[in-house]
Amino acid sequence: MRKNIVAGNWKMNKNVIDAQQLMAQLLDYKKANATNCEVWIAPPSLYLMMARDIFENNEVGVFSQDMSEYESGAYTGEISADMLQSIEADGSIIGHSERRQYHGETDSHCNRKVKLALDKGLTPIYCNGETLEQRKAGQHLEVVKNQTETALFTLTAEEIKKVVIAYEPVWAIGTGETASPEQAQEIHAHIRSLIAAKYGQEVADEISILYGGSVKPDNAKEIFSQPDIDGGLIGGAALKLEDFSKIIEGFN
Ligand code: G3H
Repeated sequence: MRKNIVAGNWKMNKNVIDAQQLMAQLLDYKKANATNCEVWIAPPSLYLMMARDIFENNEVGVFSQDMSEYESGAYTGEISADMLQSIEADGSIIGHSERRQYHGETDSHCNRKVKLALDKGLTPIYCNGETLEQRKAGQHLEVVKNQTETALFTLTAEEIKKVVIAYEPVWAIGTGETASPEQAQEIHAHIRSLIAAKYGQEVADEISILYGGSVKPDNAKEIFSQPDIDGGLIGGAALKLEDFSKIIEGFN
């Protein structure tokens, strides 16, 4: 049975004091409230060890925002899957559109990163999604198909079952413009059907597919109620407990 997940991607926000404060608030919230979904965060790498210490009993999953496609060596500025494993992180976001846009990341890079993460026992949150131009040109289904196939379809069935996918239309990220629940559902169902065609329905049904792009307290419930949407990857609204908790409660 696939999981419902609300994951917060903090991106490049918060100093150490503010990060610690939000983690402590989130821990208190998790202790006081039963949630109907898993709660994960991806703080800046600098704060991952602190996050692991604060969430020592796995109350909240701890993810990096990216990881290297290489095992180790002379790759200045990178963090490796081994490093993440050694601090008992749960996994890593891979292929976020901001990594693609500002750091030239492609689906071939993502493919290597996803495989390496899985080899090291980490959960990859693989992100895909079309740009505004691609959507306007009616290419969104094709774009997402190519992204999904290139990044994931070299995996075995056992491997792909462990991947979490986040569909994030680039035009909806940080813009306040959200895909309608129907638009998001269409792509989520499309991704699931691609996986079913390649690996079988049983495998496809086990994979959590999250939606990301301007999810807010007032639209989360409706988005999460779609049959193929298993949660959200939240940016801006993950930076305050008040908003993030209301999004988590979209599953209540
Ligand atoms: O990783 C999260 C997404 O980029 C969504 O960001 O909720 O600020 O639009 P946003």
